Amino acid sequence: MKRLDGKTAIVTGAGSGFGRGIAEIFVREGARVAVLDLDEQAAQVSAAALGSSAIAIRADVSREEDVVRAVGETREAFGTIDILVNNAGTSHRNKPILEITEDEFDRVFAVNVKSIFFFARAVIPLMRQQGRGMILNIGSTAGLRPRPGLTWYNGTKGAVHAITKSMAVELAPDRIRVCALAPVAGETPLLGTFMGEDTPEKRGQFIGTIPLGRLSRPDDIANAALFLASDEADMITGVVLEVDGGRCI
Ligand SMILES: NC(=O)c1ccc[n+]([C@@H]2O[C@H](COP(=O)([O-])OP(=O)(O)OC[C@H]3O[C@@H](n4cnc5c(N)ncnc54)[C@H](O)[C@@H]3O)[C@@H](O)[C@H]2O)c1
Repeated sequence: MKRLDGKTAIVTGAGSGFGRGIAEIFVREGARVAVLDLDEQAAQVSAAALGSSAIAIRADVSREEDVVRAVGETREAFGTIDILVNNAGTSHRNKPILEITEDEFDRVFAVNVKSIFFFARAVIPLMRQQGRGMILNIGSTAGLRPRPGLTWYNGTKGAVHAITKSMAVELAPDRIRVCALAPVAGETPLLGTFMGEDTPEKRGQFIGTIPLGRLSRPDDIANAALFLASDEADMITGVVLEVDGGRCI
């Protein structure tokens, strides 16, 4: 018996990084997965590697019409949506607070926060009808222990954590669990944006703040996602689980 046998999931931003790792482990554990990404080619490559249990969907999570279409396509393919992973995210480059433009601010809030609003509107009615559901939001240690140069990104992740807890308490009577992961800096294409520049010195500085002495990896995040999304976590809702090698202690 696999840990997600019979389950269906949407993983946003699954064309790269953490999302790709989550989609891989979900399929390995028996789930059927909609690999959603803004980058159509990346979604197709990720889904193709996962075989017949995965479909690729191109969608921009910051546009409600795309979200509604993606949820519809997933239902057509799989019938139900048991698990939604709101993973797609972006950041402004690490730079002083007054250098970040209004467009950068709007984009990072639209992709990291408003997307959760759109997906909530699209999937909660369905999950209520099913009498079950699990929503996993990808937050960040940025929302718990902020680093300089990332103020507005950090703010989006604080919002993700608060929204997670609030959704959890409001949706518990519907048997919909809502949790978040708070990864520490990880080895994905987004890392250079967080560091400002991807040099061995910068990596060394970041790693120096992580007690376990390394960056996070997609499989670290995917293993935690697997546990929270599975029925093993049936009594767990509203948690923001740090996957951070001790960064937030
Ligand atoms: N890498 C880190 O250091 C780190 C640390 C903590 C939290 N996170 C969070 O983890 C999540 C995944 O990040 P990652 O590091 O894997 O990044 P990544 O850049 O490797 O992957 C993000 C994916 O999301 C997609 N995407 C971006 N905007 C989108 C949109 N509007 N609609 C649909 N897809 C979109 C991208 O095309 C990309 O494939 C993000 O929410 C990020 O904030 C990352």
